[in-house]
Amino acid sequence: MIRPVLKIKGLSKRHGRGCPSCYNLTGPQHDRNICPQCQSVVACHNITFELFPKEVLGIVGESGSGKSTVIKLLNFDLEPDEGELYVNHSNSEVENRIGLPLEGQNLFTLNSFRKRLLRNFMIGVVYQHPHLGLRLNVSSGGNIAERLLMADWRHVGDMRERSAELLAKTEVPVSRMDEPPRNFSGGMQQRVQIAKALSNEPMLLLLDEVTSGLDVSVQARVLDLIRSLQHELHVTTIVVSHDLGVIKMLTSRTIVMKNGHIVESGLTDQVLEDPQHPYSQLLVSSALT
Ligand SMILES: Nc1ncnc2c1ncn2[C@@H]1O[C@H](COP(=O)(O)OP(=O)(O)OP(=O)(O)O)[C@@H](O)[C@H]1O
Ligand SMILES: [Mg+2]
Ligand SMILES: [Zn+2]
Repeated sequence: MIRPVLKIKGLSKRHGRGCPSCYNLTGPQHDRNICPQCQSVVACHNITFELFPKEVLGIVGESGSGKSTVIKLLNFDLEPDEGELYVNHSNSEVENRIGLPLEGQNLFTLNSFRKRLLRNFMIGVVYQHPHLGLRLNVSSGGNIAERLLMADWRHVGDMRERSAELLAKTEVPVSRMDEPPRNFSGGMQQRVQIAKALSNEPMLLLLDEVTSGLDVSVQARVLDLIRSLQHELHVTTIVVSHDLGVIKMLTSRTIVMKNGHIVESGLTDQVLEDPQHPYSQLLVSSALT
């Protein structure tokens, strides 16, 4: 049997002071994520799922359903209120630095220094808005080099070579590596973000609405690129999108979120063809009209 490479258990995140009723009074059955008692936002609650090696998992759901919250938690950008994260993966370089084996640890309990190492060495993230993932005024090569520096690359020539290789892989003209992404089209900015996210050879790639801001034709080309990179690199990936077309094209398994909860999960084809939860049914039928 294949072991999952990542296990996420009971992840919850609240914004606000919180009260004992927050979790009882929010969620899909109440059709809200704001607690009526204390006005806290339950951004996600009791999120549990596994990721298998090299799989591409989709997270779909309406705006505000908690998709980006899950991504931010997994990238250690946010601290969960509750939840556990385990990897079945070893990386001797990281383990030597943090002085612990990775397996068997709830990674959320590590200190911030150790979490930063995990993020820098093992995770790649691409955001919807290029300005969140890139410094738009720094050269494209420089953006990638900054990421390589965090993963302890030191030799300038090597970093430049690696940046050029990554830009070529993501179909950004290498002749433009000294230009800042500010000069680039939206599609090309996303390609630079993807190059940067892949630079540390992540064990987990997080793609949060990476094509949502793009024109349809540009979107199709970026999706093609992501798909061909998946075939080539086989990185375990989470694709967040509110667009079922994106989910269908890129993912094999899908989680549907609503009001901070998972309402359904399964093989993407099954979820799209025979959705079980009324909300997934609504999502699928409204995408067809
Ligand atoms: N810092 C914050 N303070 C208060 N509420 C927040 C904060 N960050 C997120 N939220 C709320 O948490 C909920 C989940 O947000 P999240 O960004 O995860 O949704 P999403 O599914 O990614 O939506 P979208 O499709 O619009 O990106 C939303 O109601 C959002 O307004
Ligand atoms: Mg989001
Ligand atoms: Zn409350």
